[in-house]
This record gives sequence, C-alpha cells and structure tokens, in this order.
Amino acid sequence: MSSSDNNFVHALQSISARVDKALDAWLPAPSPATSGRLNEAVRYSAMAGGKRIRPALCLLVAESRGVESEAALRAGCAFELIHAYSLIHDDLPAMDDDDYRRGKPTNHKVFGEGTAILAGDSLLTLAFEWLTELAQYGVAAEKNIAIVRLAAQAAGYAGMVGGQMLDMTFERRETDIATLETIHRQKTGALIKAPMQTGAILADYQPAEYCIIEAFAAKIGLLFQIKDDLLDVEGDQKELGKQTGRDASLGKTTFPGLLGLPGARDYAQKTLAEAHSLLQQLSQPVPLLADMADYIYLRQK
Ligand code: IPE
Ligand code: IPE
Ligand code: MG
Ligand code: MG
Ligand code: MG
Repeated sequence: MSSSDNNFVHALQSISARVDKALDAWLPAPSPATSGRLNEAVRYSAMAGGKRIRPALCLLVAESRGVESEAALRAGCAFELIHAYSLIHDDLPAMDDDDYRRGKPTNHKVFGEGTAILAGDSLLTLAFEWLTELAQYGVAAEKNIAIVRLAAQAAGYAGMVGGQMLDMTFERRETDIATLETIHRQKTGALIKAPMQTGAILADYQPAEYCIIEAFAAKIGLLFQIKDDLLDVEGDQKELGKQTGRDASLGKTTFPGLLGLPGARDYAQKTLAEAHSLLQQLSQPVPLLADMADYIYLRQK
C-alpha cells in the first residue's frame, strides 16, 4: 500500500469517526414516553455504520484548503440522513424487498413496515431541519438557501426519488445506455453530487473550479452505481452486508445486465479515467479526491 493510500484510509476513518460522533450527539435523544420506537428505528439505520461516503465527500471538498468546517460536518451528516432514509425505503417490500443491509436485518424486518416508513420520513425531514441551521456556523443566508435548494433537488422529484421511480419503471424492460445513465444519475448520482456542491459552496469555490467539482462529482456518482451493480453480481455478500443477485431476480436494468460483466468493468474503468482527468483541471490538486475516485472503483463493499 502506498503512503497516499495510507493517508486516504486514515482520512476516511477519521471522517467516519467524526460523523458517527456528530450523529450520535445531534440525533434526537431516545424518549420512550413519546416515540421511543421511532427513535430506535431512526438510530438503527442512521448509526448502522456504512461507508459514510456522502459526508466524506462534503468534508473533503469543504476542507480541501485546510480549514476545518463544522458547517460541512452538519451538512454532510444531513446528506447521510437523506441517504439512510433512501435505503430504508429502497429495502421495503414495495420496492426492492431486501432483508439485509449493512450486515443486519433491514429496518422494516426489525421494526415493521409502518415504523420503517415513518423512520425514513423522520430522517428526511430532520435532514432539512439541519440543513437550514448552517447560519449558526457563520454561513451567510444566501449560501444556506442555495444549499437547501440543491439538497431538495437532489433528494426529490428530479433527483433520487425520480431515479427510484425510473428504476422501478424499467424493471424487466429493454433499455439503452443513455437511459440507464439517466436512472443512475438520478437515483444515486444526485445524492453524491449534492454534498460535493455543498462543500464547494462552503469553501467559496469560484465558478470555474465549482464546475470542475460538479463534473467530477457526476462521474464518480455514475461510477459508484456501476460498481454497486457489479458488486451485486460478483461481490461477496458477507463483506457487502447485503444480499447479492437481487438485481437479476428483480429484473433491474443494470450495467452488467446491459453490457455483460467485462463490458461493465471496462465502463467503470473508463468512467474512473474521465473522473481523474477532470480533477487534473483544478488549479490546486486535491489528492484525497483522486484517492476517493480510486476507492469507489476498487471497493468491495
Ligand atoms: C448503497 O449506498 C445504495 C446506493 C446508492 C447504491 P452505499 O454503498 O453508500 O451504502 P452504505 O451507506 O455504505 O451502506
Ligand atoms: C439504491 O440503488 C439507490 C437508492 C436511492 C437507495 P440499489 O437498490 O441498487 O441499492 P442497493 O443495492 O439496494 O444498496
Ligand atoms: Mg433499488
Ligand atoms: Mg436496493
Ligand atoms: Mg444495488
């Protein structure tokens, strides 16, 4: 392992620890008298581990010039809550009907469908509450509104929710690469791009550099879901913490389904190369972002 790999592993571990600690402190305290069960269900998914990629991306961009940002931690955690909600709902019987997530039974398996739906709703709405509170870290109102707006767009109709709708619509249907890229860009890419845009807004990236970050984010978002599709075919379910072979049983439209395994692997490699060349256009190098792209490409979970 190179020293740059070591730096990255260390950076990611330290970000995960910051995120876990912050979530534990900021999530509502358990209160059995009112909604203890809901609180348990919220914490079950939000504190269940996971790679914490979305807050990591927000923090890596926001802190790329060496200044620690509590605002980015808060916003990054909000994106992690939106992600956790999307997973709870994605796993429901009405959607992918999955029993395992992050090595544990899915939320609805433990708490029942009704509570799982409400836990997802709570996570989504709590995320927006947190996103409106960035002024307490000195973020200007105009910037804060821009962040809330881009988060809403990424999470909703034209973003993740819309992508999930397309994902269902294209089950057991022929499609082409362009449509598949649209599905992936919306269902997964949007919630990978938004934390990076947020980080760039918080760190005052100027327009040209901001556009490079956006384009890079779009590439690694696509790469992330191509890899997710590949792992569903060739990953180890123990390491992944979720059942493999689900896409084929549900008739999902995926990259391996469309291009075959070697074709999907090549597509991932090409997307990684494009991500790297975009990053080289930044005026100052951000090595941890290059490492993140490699990590997303090489990950086994
Ligand atoms: C899984 O996301 C769902 C997709 C968007 C493909 P992650 O692979 O980031 O899940 P965790 O948070 O690490 O469990
Ligand atoms: C999920 O995509 C994307 C979300 C919006 C949650 P998948 O359905 O492929 O994610 P996994 O494989 O269940 O984690
Ligand atoms: Mg799904
Ligand atoms: Mg799924
Ligand atoms: Mg998947």
